[in-house]
Amino acid sequence: MNKIEQTLSIIKPDAVERNLTENIKNMFEKNNLVIKDQKKIHITKDEAADFYKVHQSKPFYNDLCNYLSSGPIVVMILEGENAISENRKLMGATDPKKADKNTIRKTYGISIDKNSVHGSDSIENAEKEIKFFFKD
Ligand code: CDP
Ligand code: MG
Repeated sequence: MNKIEQTLSIIKPDAVERNLTENIKNMFEKNNLVIKDQKKIHITKDEAADFYKVHQSKPFYNDLCNYLSSGPIVVMILEGENAISENRKLMGATDPKKADKNTIRKTYGISIDKNSVHGSDSIENAEKEIKFFFKD
């Protein structure tokens, strides 16, 4: 069943630094994901740790928090039919080496940690993550 949803997307520091923001936004728009709100920000390590706290027991947690706070990121609210799963499909697998061709991570990702984009993985997390960055 098709349903209009909103999801949170982040263009991570590796992609912002390589000036890939416009290319990635074009990929969203070509795939019927409309950018409803967006901002470029540079978060602290504490904010990154809060955002990624679901991963706090993972061995990569500390590096992940250092990385997400290492430079500017672009956070966006994407909207469209089945936006959460459509965005995950467009992003591709976490490890760019394993991602399908034409996905964002296959096209632009450097490694499993520098994989260019984040996307919410469920309705609950999309709501939480949108509130995290766009509380009004
Ligand atoms: O981002 P995604 O939902 O695909 O993956 P995740 O399992 O929720 O992991 C969050 C982020 O942690 C990934 O996007 C990677 O940047 C990072 N990660 C990592 O550095 N090393 C791993 N073995 C797994 C994930
Ligand atoms: Mg995830």
